[in-house]
Amino acid sequence: MKPFCRDTWVEVDLNAIRANVEAFRRHIPAATGIMAVVKADGYGHGAVHVGQEALSSGADSLAVAMLDEAVVLREAGITAPVLVLGYTPVESVAIASRWGIELTASHAEWVEQAEAELTRAGAQPIGIHIKTDTGMGRLGVRDADELLQVVEALEHSPHLNWTGIFTHFACADEEDTSHARAQHERFQALLSALRTAGKTLPRVHCCNTAAAMVFPEWGYDTIRLGIGLYGLYPSPYLKQQAVLQLTPALSLKTRIAHVKTAAEAMTVSYGATYTAKPGETIATLPIGYADGFSRLLSNRGAVLHAGSRAPIVGRVCMDQIMVKIQSETAQVGDEVVLYGRQGMEEISLDEVAGLVGTINYEIPCMLNYRIPRVYRRDGEVTEVFHPLTMTHRPAHSVNN
Ligand SMILES: Cc1ncc(COP(=O)(O)O)c(C=O)c1O
Repeated sequence: MKPFCRDTWVEVDLNAIRANVEAFRRHIPAATGIMAVVKADGYGHGAVHVGQEALSSGADSLAVAMLDEAVVLREAGITAPVLVLGYTPVESVAIASRWGIELTASHAEWVEQAEAELTRAGAQPIGIHIKTDTGMGRLGVRDADELLQVVEALEHSPHLNWTGIFTHFACADEEDTSHARAQHERFQALLSALRTAGKTLPRVHCCNTAAAMVFPEWGYDTIRLGIGLYGLYPSPYLKQQAVLQLTPALSLKTRIAHVKTAAEAMTVSYGATYTAKPGETIATLPIGYADGFSRLLSNRGAVLHAGSRAPIVGRVCMDQIMVKIQSETAQVGDEVVLYGRQGMEEISLDEVAGLVGTINYEIPCMLNYRIPRVYRRDGEVTEVFHPLTMTHRPAHSVNN
């Protein structure tokens, strides 16, 4: 049985996820753990599959942005520690307790309200990491007095155990490290204030991928490994530095749905912004902006067919794009790579991000529920998950 009925799919190479965890394992101090950041459905790769692979490759915990994402991991049977990095509305803290999920606090008032809610619900205690804002300007306590208030509120809360303290860097991926260094100094000062006040520090963490690459000595108890887990560099600058060799895990593939050769000048797609010359071969591919393939790639990007680049011609439609094919033998059903490698050629997520005017992070995150995810290990399909129909299929039912 075919597990999905469209000829467009994402492939995730689980060996790449493993290799990336291992590369960071070798790079950071032995005593530093790895928290795999699988928010946004594992940056579009699939949070459950990436999370499981990361945990079996050396990561010891997972992090997500919001509680719903954490519950998805638990429902899939993941029992490792899971931390919600973002804000959790107080009304939901009993759900975190039910699933044994750690939350982030950055306000004494939130701690008091969460304690009241857990008492009211008769819930089990939960672990809390305190977020400090050392220069990101997003969430977190900003000074030692505020921090001590949160710590003391936690100490007075039987249902909230203080299990971690962290900060997040705003500029660790840049050549100029002054902002990251200043943030780290502020973080150290906050930790010192806690020690001076006689507090025993729980798990301390500050490094995202970029900081872990550049300052592995700032690893403390764990790094929070996001983009590097997926084999992508946090910035073109760090890619060029190549401190670590990373392996991209995601490819986006499709198959030709229609081929035609222009007998005479022929306009292509909405707005007739491209005119094929007589003799040009145009293939139609079943992917569009409603899948998260940006319309900004209209008349700009390229795909790979028969190992060569085929430029995208005309506007990206909601469900389809057209490409100018070089090969005269192109046929309906031929495999086309939109992101990833084919033969000697590669369309990297960095290249696509450059064309769209964004960062590589956003490109896989845009790929949405309409696209089935195919997981491979050692080249073999291990599982297929189609978010649109929410079906899991074992490898033996896959014939793509
Ligand atoms: C608080 C926090 N920690 C860690 C990460 C992971 O960052 P990166 O993907 O750059 O490794 C993120 C992602 O944005 C984050 O928000």
